[in-house]
Amino acid sequence: MFNANKYKPFVRLDKADRRWPNRVIEQAPTWCSVDLRDGNQALIDPMTPSQKLEMFEMLVEVGFKEIEVGFPAASQTDFDFVRKLIEEDRIPDDVTIQVLTQAREELIARTYESLVGAKRAIVHVYNSTSTVQREQVFKMSRDEIKHIAVSGATWVKEHAERQPDTEWHFQYSPESFTGTEIDYAVEVCDAVVDVWQPTKEWKVTLNLPATVEVATPNVYADQIEWFCDNIKHRDALTISLHTHNDRGCGVAASELGVLAGADRVEGTLLGNGERTGNMDIVTMGMNLYSQGVDPKLDFSRMDKIIHVVEKCTALKVHPRHPYAGELVFAAFSGSHQDAINKCLAMYQEGEPWEVAYLPVDPRDLGRNYQEVIRINSQSGKGGVAYVLQQEHGIKMPRWLQVDFSPVVQREAESTEAEVSAEQIHDLFVATYLAPEAPMKLNGYQVTRADGVDSMEATLLDGSAEISIQGQGRGVLEAFVEGLSKHIAQPLVIIDYNEHTLGADEASEAMAYVQISVGQQRVCGAGKSRDMLGATLNALLNALARSSVEAARRAA
Ligand code: KIV
Ligand code: ZN
Repeated sequence: MFNANKYKPFVRLDKADRRWPNRVIEQAPTWCSVDLRDGNQALIDPMTPSQKLEMFEMLVEVGFKEIEVGFPAASQTDFDFVRKLIEEDRIPDDVTIQVLTQAREELIARTYESLVGAKRAIVHVYNSTSTVQREQVFKMSRDEIKHIAVSGATWVKEHAERQPDTEWHFQYSPESFTGTEIDYAVEVCDAVVDVWQPTKEWKVTLNLPATVEVATPNVYADQIEWFCDNIKHRDALTISLHTHNDRGCGVAASELGVLAGADRVEGTLLGNGERTGNMDIVTMGMNLYSQGVDPKLDFSRMDKIIHVVEKCTALKVHPRHPYAGELVFAAFSGSHQDAINKCLAMYQEGEPWEVAYLPVDPRDLGRNYQEVIRINSQSGKGGVAYVLQQEHGIKMPRWLQVDFSPVVQREAESTEAEVSAEQIHDLFVATYLAPEAPMKLNGYQVTRADGVDSMEATLLDGSAEISIQGQGRGVLEAFVEGLSKHIAQPLVIIDYNEHTLGADEASEAMAYVQISVGQQRVCGAGKSRDMLGATLNALLNALARSSVEAARRAA
């Protein structure tokens, strides 16, 4: 059954003079949300009145100035919703509602009935014009289909004239535009425009849908450019795009369509809509934002947008959904984590964003850097270090990162799951800070004479209190000498590092050491009120992890 010969390639427009490939998008198009109409029509359970209202309010909050609120002649819920918006004065002055209707007089009449009392509204009338629809669905000639469009436009105009208190705007969609012979699409639209007689000051909108996406986005862009070049009264028209995502290129098609001359784009938040969905306005808007173009929509409260969309559509947002998914700012791979850490450390607030693997700053969408570095068995030391520093102020030196990374790796492999920030911290504490150290520092005294420090420290060795003495150039050297004598093994400090855990005087100190003892290198960490105490604790904790100490304990 799987046989590609069943399909034929889309016959594309032969267009040699295309100009759109040389353009860039420098400003946001006018957006129109069709969440409450096209998105709603595609749901298993259409939105309830309260969900519609919640979605409408969120769309207003995000900044949409044009919102298609329903298909009032086709659905009582939509009719009542339009009435509610108008009667309860819920439409902000700078927002225009749009309603869809088929080109049938009784439906147009009912549509206007729903709009009584509106300050301003766009009446959107459509009929199918494609070859397939004409020949197989309607079994009508080109002229008959054009007649439907012209009649629809006429009724839209006549009914508007009967309700002069509203500021009316008109929109026509040749539904299935991409499957319509392009010269015929222009002929039908010219005929509609002739009825409406727009001016530069009172434009009408021609919306050119890729009702089903049937070709690569460049083909759509060629169609849009050809249409813009050949339609009459271009300067009295708003050319609008309405793409669906059947081939997964709904956003790309709208982007190229804007390059090709369109002024306006219809779509839904996060792409809900018939079949594979409508064009996702979040992605297209954020694509502009990431290029330094203000999308004129505010996506800074992305979690709220996701929450409302999920609640109203009962559809989950994919964790890898562009810009919005839960995982899109997470880096699991060690090399990615390292690169992100380095770039974030260099990033200066106010400078242009240039961070490897992160096309936009997660904070702009209300996310934080904590979510960026995620640890699993693919992760590296940089990621682990980042998590400990961000969450617990622990600044592991590089040699400790190298030592700790396999510990986390083992945990991730054994649990076969992501290791949370808390688990990483617990592992760190168990490994370096609180190994079962039999020896604990109880107290110490230091005297200095002739540049030599003499130290006497009391340790709790198991249940016994013992005392060690040592001398050296510095307190640490003196302590190490005393300890070496006690365990009867030379002990050498290879590396050590320390910092405070906070900014004020009361902050605790944290120290890290790497020692060599009995042919083995081991690391430890220690905490105390002061730096010296922290380092001495780190030494004892490191020693506790060594085989020398294990043997001593066994004996
Ligand atoms: O996809 C489509 O063609 C539509 C029209 C009604 C604009 O939704
Ligand atoms: Zn649609």
